[in-house]
Amino acid sequence: MFGGLFDGVALATSSPAQLRAIDERLYAHDDLYADVAYNTGGFQWWERDAVDRLFPTSGRVFVWAAGGGREMVEFARRGFAVEGCEYNSALAAGVDVAFDHAGTRHGRMHACERDMWPPTATGPYQALVLGWSSYSLVRGRGTRVELLERAASVLDPGAPMLLSYFAATDAHRYIRSVALGGRLTARWFGVSAPERGDMLTPNFAHMFEEQGLRAEVEAAGFEIVEISTVGVARAVCRRVVMSDDRSDGCL
Ligand SMILES: C[S@@+](CC[C@H](N)C(=O)[O-])C[C@H]1O[C@@H](n2cnc3c(N)ncnc32)[C@H](O)[C@@H]1O
Repeated sequence: MFGGLFDGVALATSSPAQLRAIDERLYAHDDLYADVAYNTGGFQWWERDAVDRLFPTSGRVFVWAAGGGREMVEFARRGFAVEGCEYNSALAAGVDVAFDHAGTRHGRMHACERDMWPPTATGPYQALVLGWSSYSLVRGRGTRVELLERAASVLDPGAPMLLSYFAATDAHRYIRSVALGGRLTARWFGVSAPERGDMLTPNFAHMFEEQGLRAEVEAAGFEIVEISTVGVARAVCRRVVMSDDRSDGCL
């Protein structure tokens, strides 16, 4: 209860720069993402399951929030042409090291800003992975939908996207406390209240109910193919085929 109230106050009064600094430091000092054995260790089970069943077996794939390159290296091993981005320069520095260690063809890294799709990543891509839990680390519904819209614009129609996230399951009391702390602080200081589902872990994260996630994804031109909260919460989505896609008569 009190932890939630405190997080609500902190979220309402923290600047984007402060939240960025927490996130950047947390990951830069987490040895896991600089560990070459981890970064060459392949997919987690839920990623392997999704990729094996629902991704194409070749083509051009993009990994957003690539960390030290774990998913990128595994796609390269499987013969994909892989590209990616990572805003945290301490983590991004490990990507080439991981490719060297794995002995695979290097993927292409794009420079990018936090929360944003890299402007040089123009595709077309046949598949997309938003790195482990990263969608939940983007603050603000509008920012998240814009990110997905940009991604959709460079994906082939029907291309799959794997998106993992923090589920709101079992956290309803905490969510209510954060909302209360955030609302009271916002009223008192005349600032914006956090969105329902925002949390501190201690870096910023947003927890989703399935309905809210579905609405964001659909607003950006994707549909959810399957969704699960067993283990890591994740959804495999598909870039919706739009009428423009058919204008050249190819589909
Ligand atoms: C749990 S790590 C996963 C890293 C890598 N994909 C893996 O699985 O090993 C989350 C990643 O999201 C990135 N990230 C955090 N907040 C972000 C934001 N707002 N915009 C873009 N990337 C973010 C972090 O820098 C980190 O690389």
